[in-house]
Amino acid sequence: MASGTSRDVLGKGLRVLGRAIREQPRIFAVAVSGSVLFGLLVIASAYVVGAVVGDVVVPAVERGAVAGGALALAASALFGISVLRVVGIFGRRLGAGYMQYRLQAAYRRRVTRRYLDLPLAWHHRNSTGTLLSNANSDVEAAWYPIAPLPFAVGTLVMLVGAVASLFVTDWALALVGLAVFPALFALNVVYSRRMAPRQARAQRLRAEVSGIAHESFDGALVVKTMGRESQETARFAARAGDLRDALISVGRLRGVFDPMLETLPSLGTLAVLVVGAVRLQQGAITVTELVSVAFLFTVLAFPVRAIGWVLAELPRSVAGWERVSRVLDATGEMPYGDVTLDPAHREPATLGFTDVHFGYEPAEAHQPGTEVLGEVTFTVPAGKTVALVGPTGAGKSTIASLAVRLVDPDRGRVTLDGVDVRELTAASLAATVALVAQVPFVFDDTVRANITLDRAGVGDDEVWAALRLAEADGFVAALPDGLDTMVGERGTSLSGGQRQRLTLARALAGRPRLLVLDDATSAVDPRVEAAILAGLRAPGDGGASILVVAYRRATIALADEVIYVERGRVVARGTHPELLATVPGYADLVTAYEQAEQEREQNRTYDEVTPVPSGLEMEVDR
Ligand SMILES: Nc1ncnc2c1ncn2[C@@H]1O[C@H](COP(=O)(O)OP(=O)(O)OP(=O)(O)O)[C@@H](O)[C@H]1O
Ligand SMILES: [Mg+2]
Repeated sequence: MASGTSRDVLGKGLRVLGRAIREQPRIFAVAVSGSVLFGLLVIASAYVVGAVVGDVVVPAVERGAVAGGALALAASALFGISVLRVVGIFGRRLGAGYMQYRLQAAYRRRVTRRYLDLPLAWHHRNSTGTLLSNANSDVEAAWYPIAPLPFAVGTLVMLVGAVASLFVTDWALALVGLAVFPALFALNVVYSRRMAPRQARAQRLRAEVSGIAHESFDGALVVKTMGRESQETARFAARAGDLRDALISVGRLRGVFDPMLETLPSLGTLAVLVVGAVRLQQGAITVTELVSVAFLFTVLAFPVRAIGWVLAELPRSVAGWERVSRVLDATGEMPYGDVTLDPAHREPATLGFTDVHFGYEPAEAHQPGTEVLGEVTFTVPAGKTVALVGPTGAGKSTIASLAVRLVDPDRGRVTLDGVDVRELTAASLAATVALVAQVPFVFDDTVRANITLDRAGVGDDEVWAALRLAEADGFVAALPDGLDTMVGERGTSLSGGQRQRLTLARALAGRPRLLVLDDATSAVDPRVEAAILAGLRAPGDGGASILVVAYRRATIALADEVIYVERGRVVARGTHPELLATVPGYADLVTAYEQAEQEREQNRTYDEVTPVPSGLEMEVDR
């Protein structure tokens, strides 16, 4: 099996290299030209050195006097060769570097672009650590062999030239070359074949280690509060240990093969000297020729290694490339249509769900997907507020994702102003709807950048207007640098409620015509929440229809209509008082929410009143 897969690897690796050359043909040509120039000069230098020894040094020893003219000629020839060699090396190095880093940058861009195009379902199946390593170490690994590739190609040309010049010199010495060069090549091939599975394993473990690290840092709070430090460390240590073992086995193999690759050319030189001495005695070659050939073997040894470097990197390159192309070839992105809702039309939009069915894709392909929503039909009329109420896991967030087209229904239609959302352009959809998610996300940037997101037409006036609507202008004004305050990674310098209001302001700054709030104000004081919703409902320019996932009675009471969902079905709809009177499950749920809310309120008051007189404490508790 091993040899089958490694032959595979060689073929695949060459195809990856071919792709690189097709993408950067000009730079590759520059690098290879430099490398070929270098290779030919290496051969030339061997013959010049031979000539210096045979025609200058030996006669000088024999006659006891140096031939000045010949020496000057030889010196200037060597100098000229050195200058040209510098040019060759410069061209090769520069070209190879350009090529490698340009390919890396291009593929990083393509991979990250692809991440953003792929649907949420795809992201649910892939860990963040894997995505990070796809965009970083896998892209790098894929293009690693590019650095020595021009050198290796130049070396191949040089080897052909060397064998040809050997044949011109003497057939016996040429035979030595024909024995040594293929042996060197074969050794390199065996080396890279042995390396293939080890490198692939190391590459996979790298991704796993970074995945675990990412998860532990991300969940640092949970890890610390639950006292899971040692278990997390152990989990990380186990994988890091596997990676260490994999890398050591790579190193061990390198340790065995490197000396062999080093020794083989020296053995070649030795063979040349032995064979050459005999041929010299026979008078078949001159001292000049013998020295040239012996020197040629010593200077060839190093460039031949370049072929080995390429071959040794190929398996890792193939492993990296396969992981990268898995992302680039992934399908399932949601195609957008070409319908545009009139951008001048700033009136609130109408949202419609018609017999919508939806199920999340199973995590494992062989598991059946279960339906999360079924027969969901409702409307949010223009300018109205509709509250979505239901027990946890009922499908409220799923309905919110469908409304802003993060996912598409399996059956049925979601419409905006009567147009199926699948027919809208991406820009039109983004300009029309905004979702404030259950978990607020804040970028590590300034308050202003978090709200504008570089959108056109969102200036400071719009930002402040949005902050006012989100009841966030007060705390932002009090921040040390106002809008220019950095909020820290994921907004760590903000409170939960402040973060929520910032993400709400972000949604409002785009002046959406439909606003979907998924429990977006849970960390906000109920009075502030009511004020926010009342502000959003106020008629006038910039009004929006609102679909709000609500828990508090005060919020629900503000809605024009309440949709009550249980287990992915719309169980009842009507005004809040109607549902309270007719739907027992609804009444129970709202009462339970209210009790929980009151308890929280009381705790809050209790916390804030310090010192607490004992009588007052009793008052509050009751
Ligand atoms: N990414 C996902 N993959 C698979 N199943 C999911 C996924 N997200 C949600 N579900 C499932 O879909 C159902 C509905 O989830 P949803 O998040 O819509 O509930 P919810 O009503 O918003 O609940 P909550 O009040 O707790 O926020 C749940 O059974 C949940 O387990
Ligand atoms: Mg939810």
